[in-house]
Amino acid sequence: MLQILYFGSKVTGLSIQVELRGYAQLVSSGKVNLCVCEVATVADIANIPTGSNVNIPILLYLNTNEKTIIEKLRGMRVHGVFYPPINGDAMKKKIDQLLNLDVPIATGGANDFERLKIKILAKTENVPMLPVIVNKIIAMSKDKNVPMSAVTEQVKMDQGISSKVVRMVNSPFFMLREHVSSIDKAIVLVGGEAVKNIALATATNSYYNKPFKMYDTTGTALWAHAYMVAVLCEMLAREAGADPDMYFLAGLFHDIGKIVLVEFLVQIVHDAQEERAQIKLDHAEVAGMIAERWQLAGELVQALKMHHDPQDNVIAKTVFWADRLAHFSKKRNDADFEAQFTDLMEKLVKGSGLVIKNVAGLAEKIKELLKAGDIIT
Ligand SMILES: [Fe+2]
Ligand SMILES: [Fe+2]
Repeated sequence: MLQILYFGSKVTGLSIQVELRGYAQLVSSGKVNLCVCEVATVADIANIPTGSNVNIPILLYLNTNEKTIIEKLRGMRVHGVFYPPINGDAMKKKIDQLLNLDVPIATGGANDFERLKIKILAKTENVPMLPVIVNKIIAMSKDKNVPMSAVTEQVKMDQGISSKVVRMVNSPFFMLREHVSSIDKAIVLVGGEAVKNIALATATNSYYNKPFKMYDTTGTALWAHAYMVAVLCEMLAREAGADPDMYFLAGLFHDIGKIVLVEFLVQIVHDAQEERAQIKLDHAEVAGMIAERWQLAGELVQALKMHHDPQDNVIAKTVFWADRLAHFSKKRNDADFEAQFTDLMEKLVKGSGLVIKNVAGLAEKIKELLKAGDIIT
């Protein structure tokens, strides 16, 4: 049986011991095969064995999201990192891999991917918190006693957001016949609900304010895509009697992980699989971490994490299909648009897991939306 030198809290040690029962034994001294260090506080960093005389693999159990700690761990020579929750199978797999490494551990051999993951985590911790107005709108929308008029009043109070909303409402996306010059008129013409959602989108567009060459796109296009997916998710939720606000946010933030990952990609990627091949992480996982940092609802965090592998998660499945539809909108001028659209709608109704009452009516609404044009002005 493997002998593991363990540094960390008793509780964590016990959990690891239970998970690794029959495979490894945690000890505090003697001849050992590897070392596991729990890092939950700054003080724990001192427990990590360092120096050229260290000749066993060192695994960290990073039990914190604290930015200052992650920063301090940067560049440290460790050979692997675990994150909560403790999973015996994953641990065993990683330990087996490590013990079979050909690299001379005492002279380096740190796993580049693990170092990269620490860097990505640190970068994720640096994503700015949500703007105050966004948190206010989310909180107000959750409260059934707050009327929509109070939410739009809140939007009106923010001059910057209001003027952006007015500009957005004049984009081809809304197909309005007359020019809108004030927020009050926007509320009348597109409705309070839409104004609230445009405000959420415009208040979060600065996150995309950087080049996205490695995604073969631009920040503006990525943001417009997020909005389109959000509107589609909301529409689907409404038809199925699910929570439209939750679905809107899931759509709006589904690709937010790309704002972090884009800084680590060295080759152009087209999907989550290509991201994983390059950096062992995908934007869905990072989106979940950002949403956790933003303290969004657990359901939302989970849906973001799963939007490329939705399994039984209905919100994630809806995002997945709304995403397909949004990409499909680029084909609005294709000769066989109708046939392709019908096919996609059929797959969506089966695949989303939502119980949609009026499929034909919904299809018409979605078709109109896909043909309307972009929100970019
Ligand atoms: Fe995505
Ligand atoms: Fe997407």
